[in-house]
Amino acid sequence: MDNFVYEYPIKVYFGQGCVKQYLGQLLEGCGKTVLLAYGGGSVKKNGIYDQIMSELEAAGKSVVEFAGIMPNPTYAKVQEGAALVRENHVDFILAVGGGSVIDCCKIVAAQARNAQDIWDMEFTDHKYPGEWVPMGAVVTASGTGAEMNNGAVITNEDKKIKAGLFGAHADFALLDPAYTLSLPMGQVISGAFDTLSHCMETYFGKPDHIILSDEISEAVMRNVIRNLRLLIADPQDMGARSELMWASAMGENGILKIGKVTDFQAHQMEHQLGAYTDCNHGQGLAVIHPALYRHIYENNIGRFAHFAQEVWRISPEGKTEQELALAGIGALADFIKDVGLPTTLTEMGITDESILKAVADTCSITAGCCKKLTRNEIFEILKECV
Ligand code: NZQ
Ligand code: ZN
Repeated sequence: MDNFVYEYPIKVYFGQGCVKQYLGQLLEGCGKTVLLAYGGGSVKKNGIYDQIMSELEAAGKSVVEFAGIMPNPTYAKVQEGAALVRENHVDFILAVGGGSVIDCCKIVAAQARNAQDIWDMEFTDHKYPGEWVPMGAVVTASGTGAEMNNGAVITNEDKKIKAGLFGAHADFALLDPAYTLSLPMGQVISGAFDTLSHCMETYFGKPDHIILSDEISEAVMRNVIRNLRLLIADPQDMGARSELMWASAMGENGILKIGKVTDFQAHQMEHQLGAYTDCNHGQGLAVIHPALYRHIYENNIGRFAHFAQEVWRISPEGKTEQELALAGIGALADFIKDVGLPTTLTEMGITDESILKAVADTCSITAGCCKKLTRNEIFEILKECV
């Protein structure tokens, strides 16, 4: 296991009714002016906006609205938010939404307090913001675990890059599973797959031998698989909805990464696919994972065989280690199909080979993977996905 320092700065409030119960008191001492940030309007249809507004009004806040944060938030939207914060002397940012809204706000918060362009600061000077406008998050769509960290995935449309920037972490996160009831089932499913992907990307990193973080990860993966099936069978199952929401947070609160070098190669490929096609994150991952794993599993057959046994409960009896490893990847592919996720890029409307080539040529290549890929291999894997 690698050496580590673990500290957790985000206070998490979980459960039905948590916004009403805690938001008012959390807003005390946050200053007078609050930027209320949200997406394309789902919060207005499902009543969440009204609930939050009434808490803000009761707390005597003056509210500046920052609406229309799109899925796969853009760098231009970040700059729009940062300008609003500066012009209105915002004291606190409240992000109400899924990963896109929360990510956008992390960088808005940091950009507003830093004169230098954040993209240049991080990608050219390799410096990271140490100051930001304080923020809190109310989660309305789970899966990304974005509320639990200070990484934010932003699409720079001019540069054609979707990449991770570091910004603010929330001071608090409110996770009410009932807030996800209005989320379309397709998004619930792609979000849950994102959680599974975060676990796998960490699990298949290094070291090769199983450590405590891996065993916790196996439990989270089994939990996501079981509860997603339960929730598809009964969307009103609040137990399953709650489990998925907490599993999502567990995927990104750092616990599973303790002592690990993570992989996140599938994510790097998917993010660039997003930069070129604006595709749904969890769906892109669902298509890429099995193809990527079939390509690399021979470089760590033992770990893939363990994955088959511990996550998919496949019996090793009568199987070689290689057969077991392949059966695990097969079970993953079957699960993706069973829950209704796309299994090919064609199903997602992506067939243009020149886009796949551009993705392969521009995505980051990670070091944590059991096989470091070449750009040509990435192109081959993406072509297999079509
Ligand atoms: O914009 P509105 O109208 O709110 O609609 C959203 C959006 O269309 C809708 N939605 C959210 N909550 C809802 C709801 N609709 C009805 N009822 C509700 N309660 O859902 C749609 C998708 O929302 P979005 O926030 O884009 O989804 P998600 O949470 O999957 O976030 C995806 C973004 O997060 C990034 C992804 O790359 C992508 O940009 N990620 C962030 C990570 C992080 N910071 O740690 C990790 C992930 O790997 C991921 O890359
Ligand atoms: Zn993800």
